Amino acid sequence: MLYDDNVTLTGIKKEIDETKQGEALFYDYADTGQRKFYIESYGCAMNFSDSEIVASILAQEGYAPTREMETADLILINTCSVREKAEDTVRNRLKVFNNLKTKNPALLVGVLGCMAERLKSKLMEQEKLVDLVVGPDAYRDLPNLLTRVEDGEKGINVLLSREETYADISPLRLDSNGIVGFISIMRGCDNMCTFCVVPFTRGRERSRDPYSIVAEATDLYNRGFRDITLLGQNVDSYKWTSPDETEHVNFAHLLERVAQVHPDLRVRFSTSHPKDITDDVLYTIAKYENICKYIHLPVQSGNSRILKLMNRTYDREWYMDRVNAIYRIIPDCAISSDMIAGFCTETEEEHQETISMMHFVRYSMSYMFYYSERPGTLAAKKLVDDIPEEIKKRRLQEIIDTQNQISTEVNAQDKGKIFKVLIEGDSKRSDKEFKGRNSQNKMINFPKKEGLQPGDYTWVKVLETTSASMRGEIVEPVN
Ligand code: SAM
Ligand code: SF4
Ligand code: F3S
Repeated sequence: MLYDDNVTLTGIKKEIDETKQGEALFYDYADTGQRKFYIESYGCAMNFSDSEIVASILAQEGYAPTREMETADLILINTCSVREKAEDTVRNRLKVFNNLKTKNPALLVGVLGCMAERLKSKLMEQEKLVDLVVGPDAYRDLPNLLTRVEDGEKGINVLLSREETYADISPLRLDSNGIVGFISIMRGCDNMCTFCVVPFTRGRERSRDPYSIVAEATDLYNRGFRDITLLGQNVDSYKWTSPDETEHVNFAHLLERVAQVHPDLRVRFSTSHPKDITDDVLYTIAKYENICKYIHLPVQSGNSRILKLMNRTYDREWYMDRVNAIYRIIPDCAISSDMIAGFCTETEEEHQETISMMHFVRYSMSYMFYYSERPGTLAAKKLVDDIPEEIKKRRLQEIIDTQNQISTEVNAQDKGKIFKVLIEGDSKRSDKEFKGRNSQNKMINFPKKEGLQPGDYTWVKVLETTSASMRGEIVEPVN
């Protein structure tokens, strides 16, 4: 699967968007005569999760969400800076939003998230595209900034924080189908991978109070949610110490606490950094049936010299050791990855090591990119972006072809197997079919059966597979 800068990190939003419950939730809010806000999100799942925090803050101020930008009093775009293409998409959208101002001069347009943080006042002053610029740690200031803009002052706050986790804000689940939800467990990143802009746009790493995380998971369960993903740029380095310093919680402990909320609440997490994933975490995943057997473990490159240049702080052998540990401790685990083709100075032989790593791990899925130099990063300052674009694209295509081949083979091995599936809604193809995911994060379509509805678990036998999809049929429960 190719990462789509135009839409989302994972395609999860696309899935969620199509559910009828999600739309109803939106329209219920929309027709109340209140001021309306429209919010569009790009980039990673953290951004989508942040948009729900922003929505909650705005709802407190009397704003209601709308899906129709033409009816909005306030348009917000939550942005991503990870690649140049992501920023180009946002600029194009800002032009569309600004055109609406000719019809509605009172309309306010604001940019949130990583691009706001990276470009600060530039979008407002040089490009004159927005009224409001708010960085990822400044969302609590939104009501104040809106008042300032309405009073004709500048609405900008891009201060980063060492403490902000929005732990006390209950997110307004915008596009939710009421079954699948995200919980941010930490913010920022301290890793300084040389290619990556995130440490500059999101600031220092900080972990959220585990009690507020468990409370949010419990609340979601009580409201009917059955699948939650714990989010962070590097969840395995989650670390929380109580104010009196008597309690220390790491990621394995946190996973266990969330898994204990209810056996019917599936727990997922993303993203794991290969340098931090411990055997303790793996044993915790193996111990609880409701912790999903799926790990997103981005390798970036299969070559040790390139990994060093990327400052990933592990080498090829370390990564392979972690993969062996995963398959030893959790034999039915699926592993997915991120890969960057054509990083600075990468040779053909080094590129081939990424391909051979893919064959070694047999990833169920990957997000694949070619290197895009980002201003201000360590790579932009110290390394030369010397691989011509056509070579980057050719290498990326080889990586994509390899992943398609591996996905086809890995999925075919599931033919005849029976999986416990959480029903998420109607399949894309037909309202006579459900779609649901198994523990390994694979979506399976299957004919409906009376008495079952979204949010229920059922058992499905896989009958047909392709590189990207699976079809099956409901069978009797398996013990
Ligand atoms: N924190 C996660 C990790 O360390 O694996 C990844 C977060 S990053 C937002 C998502 C993915 O974007 C990365 O894993 C990487 O593959 C890709 N990425 C980041 N910077 C990039 C760049 N400058 N060019 C191309 N891809 C990039
Ligand atoms: Fe970026 Fe590396 Fe942090 Fe991931 S771990 S967000 S790739 S700096
Ligand atoms: Fe993009 Fe920021 Fe996420 S740069 S990938 S939205 S942390």
